Amino acid sequence: MRPDGAEHLLVRDGNMVRLNKFLADCGVGSRRECDRLIADGAVQVNGKRVQPGTLVEDSDKVTVNGKRIALQRKYYIMLHKPKGYVTTVKDDLGRKTVLDLIDIPARIYPVGRLDYDTEGLLLLTNDGDLANRLTHPRNEINKTYVARISGMLTEAERITMEKGVTIDGVKTAPARVRILQQDKHHTRCEVTIHEGRNHQVKKMFEAVGKEVEFLKRVAVGDLRLGGLARGGYRYLSDDEVEYLKNL
Ligand code: URA
Repeated sequence: MRPDGAEHLLVRDGNMVRLNKFLADCGVGSRRECDRLIADGAVQVNGKRVQPGTLVEDSDKVTVNGKRIALQRKYYIMLHKPKGYVTTVKDDLGRKTVLDLIDIPARIYPVGRLDYDTEGLLLLTNDGDLANRLTHPRNEINKTYVARISGMLTEAERITMEKGVTIDGVKTAPARVRILQQDKHHTRCEVTIHEGRNHQVKKMFEAVGKEVEFLKRVAVGDLRLGGLARGGYRYLSDDEVEYLKNL
């Protein structure tokens, strides 16, 4: 900590870094969550409670609720989520979580959500800054899904969905809806949205009277699921991580 008490004035000072960033880098949570922990008095630096904006350096002893926190390697993982898994870290109903599919020596968490019965591309990381970037509505990150719906989607319905439909009283932002294949009984569509509202794709179809039978996320930005096996995961390359950081 700075002995002159000027922690709040600087974001970085040589090897010093703001406490909320240090905690986020250590995988404690997003910067905002870390600010809350600091404000709640859960964080101590060298045995003392501190103010938000405090600067720390590597040699400082930082604890959260009495547990020592240290810088951690960053993990960036792409999982092909199967149906039947929740995208939370723990489930009150005892259902399997996506973390049951991953074996790495760090506490990572899912970036955004996929429904229990949705499959496809799910990113997981312990990089709170990147997770926030990718999920913040302001950044309008495209997410692309393949959906199979019952019945035929008409051109008028497709255009309505693209222009925006009202779900839960709020109009959706413009989207892209392409019909990939259809017959009398089913339509397979590709849907790209940049919002992340709850059950958004299903509700967009519901708004034009269609029911989603199958839903899979195939891309986040230009990052595609590709041939990754269902239930499998892989580490992102440095280039892929860099791409996501600049999205
Ligand atoms: N839209 C949905 O309806 N469900 C998902 O899991 C993701 C997007």
